[in-house]
Amino acid sequence: MQATAIAQPNIALIKYWGKRDIARNLPAVGSISITLSDLYTSIEVQLDETLGEDSLSINGVAEQRSLPRMSACLENILGTERAHARIISECNFPMAAGLASSASSFAAATVAAAIAGGLPLSTAEMAGLAGRASGSAARSLYGGFAELRNDENSIRVEQLCDKDAWPLRVVVAITESGPKHTGSTDAMEISRQTSPFYSSWVAQQDDDLAVARMAIEQRDFSALAAIAEHNCLKMHSVMWASRPAITYWNAATMRCMETIRSLQNEGRGVFFTIDAGPQIKAVCLPEDEEAVAEALAATSGVQSTMRCGLGDAARVVV
Ligand code: PMV
Repeated sequence: MQATAIAQPNIALIKYWGKRDIARNLPAVGSISITLSDLYTSIEVQLDETLGEDSLSINGVAEQRSLPRMSACLENILGTERAHARIISECNFPMAAGLASSASSFAAATVAAAIAGGLPLSTAEMAGLAGRASGSAARSLYGGFAELRNDENSIRVEQLCDKDAWPLRVVVAITESGPKHTGSTDAMEISRQTSPFYSSWVAQQDDDLAVARMAIEQRDFSALAAIAEHNCLKMHSVMWASRPAITYWNAATMRCMETIRSLQNEGRGVFFTIDAGPQIKAVCLPEDEEAVAEALAATSGVQSTMRCGLGDAARVVV
């Protein structure tokens, strides 16, 4: 009745923004992501009939705010009659700051809960269940490059390319370490209801996905760079035009984008992507990683940088 699982966060190159069905947490658009190495969340789920309620600790500290969402995730997997659980989470990177900690948390929780509950679920089934808790979590059930397709009534995730088949590197520039001002679930809904660009964002997504899929298949870095930056800026344009406007960037985020433009002008293989937070993720070719990391670390307002490669699927820790 106890299991521990580990999952790595993933970052979307073609983004998910907006829900088709809020109750079932179905995304309005498909997405393509890379699962990262080095950063991780490990979650132990201890199911215990003697407990009167669930508890959650994160890095040794009791956490109430995230508990209802975690309990709902377990309930969705194990049913309402399940035993209560002690949920012990360890995360080695800043949480709720636009670094996809919800993806790794809910992916790890899903795998740990399924094993603790003795449920022999397939990866596809676990991806579906993780996606109910956090859309992006479904993608962390797969390593390397993954695509989430949003069918009418469900989601389907598949691996597009193994991490070793195209071993890109990622430099993350942290420009602010506090939690984000608006969670992505609320922000997406504001965009859906108010942004005049929302419907064209949704309408264009299949074309962006097709371009990115082809770039990955052909290992065409420049093509992937162009479509990923375009898709990221389009998602943030949808947010900026929402009412109230949703802006996750700060001045250092902008300066990092300028740094990356300069590196590109020098011929470096690098592109940026930014999620629901002010951090910059610079995806680069291995031979350019050193120059990218140095340039971002020297950019004014960057507090720290982290480097990683592409990571593995969520898995049980034995
Ligand atoms: O899965 P959520 O609810 O944390 O939303 C993820 C939203 C983005 O990170 C901005 C984009 C994405 O596809 O991961």
